[in-house]
Amino acid sequence: MEQIHLETKNLSFTYPDGTQALKNINLKIKKGEKIAIVGPNGAGKSTLFSHLNGLTEPTSGHIEVDGEEIIYNRDELLKVRQKVGIVFQDPNDQLFAPTVKEDVAFGPMNLGLDYDEVKKRIVESLEMVGMRGFEDKTPHHLSGGQQKRVAIAGIIAMRPEIMILDEPTAGLDPEGVDKVLAILNRLNDEGISIIISSHDIEMVNQFADKIFVLYSGEIIAHGDKHQIFSDKKLLKKACLKEPVTTEILYKLKENGLDVDTEKITVNETVEEILKASKD
Ligand SMILES: Nc1ncnc2c1ncn2[C@@H]1O[C@H](COP(=O)(O)OP(=O)(O)OP(=O)(O)O)[C@@H](O)[C@H]1O
Ligand SMILES: [Mg+2]
Repeated sequence: MEQIHLETKNLSFTYPDGTQALKNINLKIKKGEKIAIVGPNGAGKSTLFSHLNGLTEPTSGHIEVDGEEIIYNRDELLKVRQKVGIVFQDPNDQLFAPTVKEDVAFGPMNLGLDYDEVKKRIVESLEMVGMRGFEDKTPHHLSGGQQKRVAIAGIIAMRPEIMILDEPTAGLDPEGVDKVLAILNRLNDEGISIIISSHDIEMVNQFADKIFVLYSGEIIAHGDKHQIFSDKKLLKKACLKEPVTTEILYKLKENGLDVDTEKITVNETVEEILKASKD
């Protein structure tokens, strides 16, 4: 049986002002999966993520990491945060130290690691995100994309088993997006489960395997990305735009071509078109 890495059970959350941001969320994430939570602005993505490593305590329901329920005391939370690393939507919420290296060092130091190990992890994680040479710079003087990569390095340095990234590519240029996705794919190849949130369906189509659709605090659908991203009605309901490949496949079908509208990755769509044009 595949191991469930992270699970939420009937998780609901209401903000003190009465906003019911999450309603009965049931997520199951297996080890090594690449997951995306998609949903429009205000759907509850950031609120959900702040629950997944214990930053926020649910109003009702609970969260399990490796089958163990999160318990909200200091020692238990430290253990959870070692396993589950979160990269926030806004790097300004994450980066606070005077220099890049101190920022990356913060997490490992909190784990009580010795000086040599912390130094090793700084080098290793900045290397991984392509930010060596920026060690002494002030995070606030970096570009948005560079800040994002330093924020990711700070989490990598904790060697988490699960990485959660809230809108990891928002505001990045196309090359920046590719760089971040390459980092995430590399981490995933090393066995780390990755969960991202986004409303950028094209990016998610390129990256994730499994999708949860969050709308108005509820998971309204989940499944393989081929199912979810070929369901135009569902995406419309969730105020999301279908991938351009879905649009193309539907148009070809309307024009009488025998194509499978679930072949939504670029390579699959090209194959479908080539196949249909040979028929
Ligand atoms: N501190 C807060 N107090 C009260 N309501 C809040 C608070 N933070 C968020 N909300 C509300 O909770 C809901 C979910 O917000 P959340 O930030 O989780 O959405 P999101 O899916 O991350 O959106 P975005 O795509 O804009 O980042 C929204 O209705 C929002 O207005
Ligand atoms: Mg958000």
